[in-house]
Amino acid sequence: MQKKTLSDLSIQGKRVLMRVDFNVPLDDRKNITDDKRIVESLPSIKKVLDDGGRLILMSHLGRPKGKVNPEFSLAPVAAKLAALIDAPVTMAKDCIGTEVMQQVLAMRDGEVILLENLRFHPEEEANDPEFAKELASLGELYVNDAFGTAHRAHASTEGITHFVPIAVAGYLIERELMYLGKALQDPERPFVAILGGSKISGKIDVLENLFKKVDTVLIGGAMVFTFFKAQGYEVGNSLVEESKIELALEILEQAKQRGIKLLLPEDVILTSKIAADAPFHSALISAIPDGMIGVDIGPKAAEAYRNEIIGARTVLWNGPMGVFEIDNFASGTMAVARALVDATAKGATTIVGGGDSAAAIAKAGLAGGITHISTGGGASLEFLEGKVLPGIAALND
Ligand code: 3PG
Repeated sequence: MQKKTLSDLSIQGKRVLMRVDFNVPLDDRKNITDDKRIVESLPSIKKVLDDGGRLILMSHLGRPKGKVNPEFSLAPVAAKLAALIDAPVTMAKDCIGTEVMQQVLAMRDGEVILLENLRFHPEEEANDPEFAKELASLGELYVNDAFGTAHRAHASTEGITHFVPIAVAGYLIERELMYLGKALQDPERPFVAILGGSKISGKIDVLENLFKKVDTVLIGGAMVFTFFKAQGYEVGNSLVEESKIELALEILEQAKQRGIKLLLPEDVILTSKIAADAPFHSALISAIPDGMIGVDIGPKAAEAYRNEIIGARTVLWNGPMGVFEIDNFASGTMAVARALVDATAKGATTIVGGGDSAAAIAKAGLAGGITHISTGGGASLEFLEGKVLPGIAALND
C-alpha cells in the first residue's frame, strides 16, 4: 500500500491539520505516564515546523462519550509537547467553532495549536460529514499520523478526507506500515510469531492470518489452557474458553497441515490466587492440581521459546505470556522480552504489536532493544488480522 506522505507536501506558510493519536495514559494528577505516542509523533511535527508550516494538531483522549469532560482534556498533552519541542503549544478551548477558526487564521509560520479533545463532540465517532467538513476547513493540508486510531472510521480520520484537497500519511504511520507491512508481506525467515493474551477468541483472526506467513508460532497467556483442555489435560481453575475448545483443536490441526511449528508451554506457573503476595510454583502441564490457576509460562517453556526467538530473522510479538502486571507472574513475559532484545542484537527484525506487550517491554526498560514497537493496540491487531484500516485506506495513493 503506497500512500502519499508528508514528504510529498509543500508546507511553507500553509495551515497543516494533523490528526495524531495523543490518547496517552494519565495518572490521577494528570501526569502522562507513557509519552511514547507523543514522542513518536515528533518527526512529523518537526517536519512541519522546520518547513515553515502552521501546525494544527487534533486528537482524542480516552472515551468521554461525546460530552465535554475536563477529565479528558488534552491540556496536559499540550504542556508535554511544548516541553518536548521546546516551543509554545497553544491549547484551544474546542476543536471547532468561530473562536477556533479565528485562532487558526491568526497563526504565524512555525506556530502550533492543539485542538481540544475531538470526542467531546458525538459527531466525531459518528463520522458526521458536517463535523468532518468543519474540521477540514481549519487546515489547507491534511496529514493523518494517528496509527493508533486508524482502525476507527471517525470524522477526523476518515470523514475528513472527503473534504480536503489532499490527505497524506505522517511519518509515524509510514514507519508502522513499513515494519508491520513487511512482516506480513515479505518477512525474512525464519519468521517466529509469539501470541499471548487471555483468550483465543481475541487472537484467532491474527493467528489465521499469520498462519499464511510464519514458520513458528509460540503461544502463551491464559489462552494456552483452552488448548490444554482440548488436549485432555486437567487445568485446575485456569481460564478456559469452553466454547473455543473445538477451535483450539482445529488450530493445532491446521498448524500441522501447514507445516508450522506451533509450540505450547511445557510448564506453567501456578497459584491459588491472582495476587501479588500469593505463593506460586512451576509445574508441568500434565501435573496441574485441582484448584490451581495458571498465570505464566514456566521456566522450561521460557527457555524453549527463547531458543526459537534468538534463531529467528523476523519476530512478531503480540500479547503477554502471563499476568505480567504482578512481578511474580511476569518472568515468562520478561524472558520473551529479553529474547527479543537478544535477537535484535543478532540482526533480526523484532516487532512488538502495541497494547500489553508494549507495556511489558516498557516495564522491563527494554524498549530501546526492539526494532519496532507499534503505537497501536487495536489498530495493530486489526492490521495483523489482515483487515483494511479505514484511516489509512482513506489517504491518497
Ligand atoms: C487506542 O488507544 O487504542 C486508540 O487511541 C483508540 O482508542 P479507542 O479504542 O478508544 O478508539
